[in-house]
Amino acid sequence: MNNGNWLKQIIEETRQLIEQAASGAQRTIVLSPEVVAMLENVRPQAAPSPPFSRETVSEEPADYETGSDLAELEREVAQCTKCGLAKCRTQTVFGDGSPEAKLVFVGEAPGAEEDRQGRPFVGRAGQLLTDIIEKGMKLRRRDVYICNVLKCRPPGNRNPSPEEVYYCEPYLIRQLEIIQPKVICALGKYAAQTLLKNTAPVSRLRGRWWEYHGIPLRVTYHPAYLLRNPNDKKECWDDVKEIVKVLKGEATP
Ligand code: URA
Repeated sequence: MNNGNWLKQIIEETRQLIEQAASGAQRTIVLSPEVVAMLENVRPQAAPSPPFSRETVSEEPADYETGSDLAELEREVAQCTKCGLAKCRTQTVFGDGSPEAKLVFVGEAPGAEEDRQGRPFVGRAGQLLTDIIEKGMKLRRRDVYICNVLKCRPPGNRNPSPEEVYYCEPYLIRQLEIIQPKVICALGKYAAQTLLKNTAPVSRLRGRWWEYHGIPLRVTYHPAYLLRNPNDKKECWDDVKEIVKVLKGEATP
């Protein structure tokens, strides 16, 4: 095959892959031997891999060295200038906790304190989230993983814009692919709507199990909302109790 045909084939296979991902089909890539050979040429430093054939190459977690891949992604995020938030951040806020976590919490975006410290959920809402994890769920904060849809603080804590979510979401997708938790908990509207591609309000999305690429996902209220609406803490408690049951193997989603 000449170079032009290879390029066409790569474009065609990439197109099929995007269609497959968009349709929610199983995340499996079928590559032709020519494209595999081409890709091996552009990544000569890749670890030795089993011989490929026109069979399925799974994208599943075994491909990842969880800790080091997360660290590499964090370095990439720290350099990101894809949206305007790069100009006003003190630093990026990538994520916090165990790369081996069984439970990942996804929030909205860093606030002022997070922007200052470079860690997610370290302000008032963060204290409530820590209490939910440690006092409520009886887990250690350092054993779960916490991150946000946006890795940079929107000025004045305004809502994330669609453009910011568009540019930042791939980082979240990769974090979740690397960690492969047993359960994801989406905190509030932006996390829920970004992960589920569903524009319903949190009050309608919570209270049941969803799936994010095969990973059980539960939606609950954002801790900052709970600080303003303490009457809804009971519902949040109901949500986290269901998560704990699944983590302990006492219930299936
Ligand atoms: N709110 C969020 O959504 N994330 C944080 O990290 C802090 C507050």
